[in-house]
Amino acid sequence: MICAVLTALLFAANIQVVTADVNHCPSGWTFSTNTSYCYIQSAQYLSYSEASNYCQSIGGTQVFIFTLRELTWLTDFTSSSFAQPWLATTRNITTDKWYNSDGTTPAATYWTSGEPGVNGDCATFKGAGASGLKATQCYSIQPALCRQMPALCPSQTSYGGQYTGSGTITSPGYPNQYYNNLDCVYTILSPNNTYITMQFSPYMVEEYFDWIDLFDGPNTTYPFLGTTDDWWSLRFNFESSSNAVSFIFHTDSIVTDKGWLLTWSAKTKTPPISQSGQNGSFTSPNYPNNYDPYTEQIYYVNAPTGFQVNLTIPDFVTEANYDVLEIYNTSTVISSGLVANLSGSAVAPYSWLSPSNYVTMRFRSDGVVQKQGFSIVWFIQ
Ligand SMILES: *[C@@H]1O[C@H](CO)[C@@H](O)[C@H](O)[C@H]1NC(C)=O
Ligand SMILES: *[C@@H]1O[C@H](CO)[C@@H](O)[C@H](O)[C@H]1NC(C)=O
Ligand SMILES: *[C@@H]1O[C@H](CO)[C@@H](O)[C@H](O)[C@H]1NC(C)=O
Ligand SMILES: *[C@@H]1O[C@H](CO)[C@@H](O)[C@H](O)[C@H]1NC(C)=O
Ligand SMILES: *[C@@H]1O[C@H](CO)[C@@H](O)[C@H](O)[C@H]1NC(C)=O
Ligand SMILES: *[C@@H]1O[C@H](CO)[C@@H](O)[C@H](O)[C@H]1NC(C)=O
Ligand SMILES: *[C@@H]1O[C@H](CO)[C@@H](O)[C@H](O)[C@H]1NC(C)=O
Ligand SMILES: *[C@@H]1O[C@H](CO)[C@@H](O)[C@H](O)[C@H]1NC(C)=O
Repeated sequence: MICAVLTALLFAANIQVVTADVNHCPSGWTFSTNTSYCYIQSAQYLSYSEASNYCQSIGGTQVFIFTLRELTWLTDFTSSSFAQPWLATTRNITTDKWYNSDGTTPAATYWTSGEPGVNGDCATFKGAGASGLKATQCYSIQPALCRQMPALCPSQTSYGGQYTGSGTITSPGYPNQYYNNLDCVYTILSPNNTYITMQFSPYMVEEYFDWIDLFDGPNTTYPFLGTTDDWWSLRFNFESSSNAVSFIFHTDSIVTDKGWLLTWSAKTKTPPISQSGQNGSFTSPNYPNNYDPYTEQIYYVNAPTGFQVNLTIPDFVTEANYDVLEIYNTSTVISSGLVANLSGSAVAPYSWLSPSNYVTMRFRSDGVVQKQGFSIVWFIQ
């Protein structure tokens, strides 16, 4: 199973930019960007009972109207036809109530004016004028109106590979519009001993109802890594802990937007730098040249027991608020031990005396704006 997954990923290794195919519907059908369904009206006229079978025979189902948006779209779609096509909506003559084929009741506002009248127990769609449902005698002969959900998720779902360090992925239909009713799954694999940083930008997605959930491994059974939309705020940046990540783009049945562009990049896992003894010094990666995007570097000082560590920072320039050096008074990164969270250009000169013989520091940079970084010297006292 693992082999199969990796093999699939390897074949995808060279593909960098993928945009969804826009021909979603079989030939003869019309795609509606308003509902994200494909529609067709038959050229031939059929009895009511034949209409449903006809739709099934061509891979669809008979239309009943489920949103005002669809009603508006169907008005446009059928505007060039004089005939009123059948809908999958009938009157139950025992209860005298109208039902769609899925058991739901058509909204009262979907009927054209004066309808439903008493003349007929089968509904047709009246497009011209006050559009809407119209009660029609079931023995009439009308065209069929069918719809089907197109395959809208991309056929390629695996990206990156053992030898691919970066790439971009776009939502289906980007940058025009993504579609309703999606649950598209994507996987990214990067070289061994790397982790993956991801930035969704631009991210133009219907808030609250459409979102992306990320998982920290090669499929969605791995631990939850985060979501772009947690109801309280939007988030665009994510980082995996290993060289594989997967995510699901979920959209609901109404309202779409332009979609998203994901830029991802593999980062080498840099081992922590540890120092002991009486004194020492550290610099940010590449110092005095600029550090890299998505750097993460941990530093440990472990001085002799009984001493304190005097830490001074003579030089410090990072992107304010985003490229941050954290200082901990603990021997590992523990949030309760955070004593300073340094960024920007107004930090140096900085000096701090640890309460004990150890200090832990962690420097992290984001994907935009790199600076020179910092130098640190320490000695025991
Ligand atoms: C379909 O949606 C587009 C964009 O939201 C809108 O401009 C257009 O009027 C809609 N058309 C119909 C027939 O609803
Ligand atoms: C009409 O409604 C009655 C009462 O709910 C139900 O028993 C019957 O099956 C319905 N008829 C049809 C054709 O669905
Ligand atoms: C990456 O690691 C896997 C699993 O340990 C191994 O099978 C594969 O050969 C490695 N690939 C490279 C390019 O080193
Ligand atoms: C997820 O991946 C693991 C191995 O990485 C595999 O054992 C498991 O079967 C996969 N699950 C699914 C649903 O693909
Ligand atoms: C740094 O420590 C070494 C011993 O590890 C010592 O020889 C040296 O004098 C110290 N330097 C300073 C400036 O304290
Ligand atoms: C440090 O500050 C940055 C920016 O102000 C913030 O995003 C981050 O959460 C802070 N880190 C901690 C551990 O408080
Ligand atoms: C370490 O830092 C934390 C957070 O700033 C602080 O609450 C704690 O008292 C410090 N520990 C010592 C031993 O000074
Ligand atoms: C660290 O040592 C320097 C140089 O001796 C001194 O100026 C500074 O006050 C010390 N810092 C602390 C916090 O003790």
